[in-house]
Amino acid sequence: MSKLTFPENFIWGTATSSYQIEGAWQEDGKSESIWDRFAHTAGKIEDGTTGDVACDHYHRWAEDIALMKSLNIQSYRFSTAWPRILPNGRGPINQAGLDFYSRLVDGLLAANITPFVTLYHWDLPQVLQDEGGWTARPIVESYVEYVDVVTRHLGDRVKHWITHNEPWVVAIMGHESGEHAPGIKDGAAALAAAHHVLLSHGAAVPIIRQNSVGAEVGITLNFVPAEPATSSIADFNAYRFFDGFFNRWFISPLYGRRYPADIVADYVAKGYLPPDGLPFVQEEDWQTIATPTDFLGINYYSRAILSADTAETDLEKTLFSSVAPEQTDMGWEVYPNGLYNLLQRLYFEYQIPKIYITENGASYSDGPDENGRVADKRRLSYLRDHLTVAHQAIQNGIPLAGYFVWAFMDNFEWNRGYKQRFGIVWVDYETQQRTIKDSALWYKEVIARNGLE
Ligand code: FCB
Repeated sequence: MSKLTFPENFIWGTATSSYQIEGAWQEDGKSESIWDRFAHTAGKIEDGTTGDVACDHYHRWAEDIALMKSLNIQSYRFSTAWPRILPNGRGPINQAGLDFYSRLVDGLLAANITPFVTLYHWDLPQVLQDEGGWTARPIVESYVEYVDVVTRHLGDRVKHWITHNEPWVVAIMGHESGEHAPGIKDGAAALAAAHHVLLSHGAAVPIIRQNSVGAEVGITLNFVPAEPATSSIADFNAYRFFDGFFNRWFISPLYGRRYPADIVADYVAKGYLPPDGLPFVQEEDWQTIATPTDFLGINYYSRAILSADTAETDLEKTLFSSVAPEQTDMGWEVYPNGLYNLLQRLYFEYQIPKIYITENGASYSDGPDENGRVADKRRLSYLRDHLTVAHQAIQNGIPLAGYFVWAFMDNFEWNRGYKQRFGIVWVDYETQQRTIKDSALWYKEVIARNGLE
């Protein structure tokens, strides 16, 4: 294969999130988050674990930065934990919480690593959940207050901001299926939550711009490109609904097109919405949600193949075709072309000026061999094959500006616990020792060459 070179200013990064790596769940004035509460509830996490300690990154951040630097990482996407900064959800600031992120940012800049900060990666203060969390409209004001505090303190040094990570997961997994915190199972609540997340995004954009002069601001959505299993009308309809509820529901209003009418009708039929309109929407919300941003962050892992037989009964099966020849340990199909199709669709249908792949990666449990080496061949080829189509997309004119591997290191994979390992760095949770996997060594070379051999 000949060399595939990326554009000169292409950003090579890696990503994590606060609850998944930090630990220190009740240190230095941090309050309880909905994920602390959820993980501490019996039966919610597959292996019965919690993020209490996780990768102990709260204490090991300097070592982690040094490791990133040794791997040539140019940019690090991490999230700030709201309950560390505003323990009451709003009001008094916990300086110790802010100081942690301030040191982290300074450490990154000193290592020549650009911080990409996600302001919400799911760890809502439990006190706000007690008032209804994302289902209640006042959350929007609290979120804006929190964003104002963070961006006022870090905005001089951080110039890349992501308002939210994956509103679909917050809304649907948190409030409809209940597999994620806060564990609610109520379709109507899920749609209200989705709306308030989107609204809070739009309301926060001007505040970020004000506090962080010259910054780039965007939001990260997760997408699962879908296709019907056969050409039958029933399968097509299952595909249409899936694409609508997963992908279109979130991107449409962000780009000025409100919620897709076909899915509104489906939700009315399901009893999630009343027949006479969207109860949680105020007319001016549309404009707020569609406030222009500088980029769209996309998280891509796999595709879905929709068949009318399984769509209603088994979302997991539908989501990630379990009959696929190549699957990761999550049971997700390895399908690099899905990334290409997604990039193309987003660019042509929504005219997005700039796209970052803010997450892409694979869970494989390969661990250290007797010599301490982690030969994670399957992750390496997953990353290589996805980067190959990313390169092809750029060649074809799609404004893809950067790529962040999920994840920098193994971590707490939400309701799946620690068994799922996405890291390019292995974490031994007993000793907290980090071991660089082969995929990380390979990525280091990719970055050095700004391309693939
Ligand atoms: C995404 C999340 C991220 C991680 C990966 C595997 O949905 O944003 O935190 O769990 O999936």
